[in-house]
Amino acid sequence: MQQGLFITLEGIDGVGKTTQALLLKGELERQGYSVLHTFEPGGTKLGSKIRSLLLNPEHEELHSMTEVLLYAADRAQHVAEKVLPALKDGKMVICERFIDSSIAYQGYGLGFEIEAIKTINHWAAGGLWPDLTVYLDGDPAQFLAKTKGDRIEQRTLDYYNRVRRGFLEIAQAEPDRVKVVSAEGTREAVSQRVLQALEGRCG
Ligand SMILES: Nc1ncnc2c1ncn2[C@@H]1O[C@H](COP(=O)(O)OP(=O)(O)O)[C@@H](O)[C@H]1O
Ligand SMILES: [Mg+2]
Repeated sequence: MQQGLFITLEGIDGVGKTTQALLLKGELERQGYSVLHTFEPGGTKLGSKIRSLLLNPEHEELHSMTEVLLYAADRAQHVAEKVLPALKDGKMVICERFIDSSIAYQGYGLGFEIEAIKTINHWAAGGLWPDLTVYLDGDPAQFLAKTKGDRIEQRTLDYYNRVRRGFLEIAQAEPDRVKVVSAEGTREAVSQRVLQALEGRCG
C-alpha cells in the first residue's frame, strides 16, 4: 500500500526540472519530510543503460515503437525498484518525468496513439499514478538552447511545440492533479511558484 506522496515534475528539456526538484527537495526536508529525488529515464542502474540506448544520437534507426517501449521498460524497473519502495517507506518522492512525458513526447510529439501509450505505461507502472504533477511551462525556442543535443533534443522546434501543447492539454484535462507553473524568471521565483502549486498537499 502506498503511504508517501508521489510528486512528478514535467516539462521540456532545459526548462528547469532538475533545478526545481533539488530546490523542492531542500524545502521539504527543511519541513521535516523524508524525500527521494529521482528521475526518468535512467533512475536505476539498469535504467541508465536504457537511457543511453534512448538518447544516443547514433541510434538513428531506433523505431518510435521501440522508443515507447524502452521508456516503458525503464519506468517499470524504476517504479518497482525505487519509487514504490520509497512510497511504502512513507517517503515523499519527487520524480523528474513520468507517464505524462511519454504522452507528450511520443504521443503529441511523434504522433503515436495516445491511448496505446497510456495502456502500455499504466501496465508498466503497475497502475501507479502521481498524486501531484508540476508542469514547468516554457517556450521551447527559449529553453532548448540550453540543452546538450542528445537524440531526442535534436528534434525540430515544431516537434517541441507539439510536446508543449501535449503537456498543456494534459494539464487542462486533469486540473486537480497537474499544476502549470511558468518556468520563466529566476530559479528562486520559479521555486516559489512550485511551492505555491503544492500548497495544501504538503507542508
Ligand atoms: N530559472 C532559471 N534561470 C536561469 N537558468 C536556469 C534556471 N533554472 C535552471 N537553469 C539552468 O538551466 C539549465 C537547465 O536546467 P535543468 O534544471 O537542468 O533543466 P531540466 O532538468 O528540465 O533539463 C541548467 O544549466 C540550469 O542551471
Ligand atoms: Mg534534468
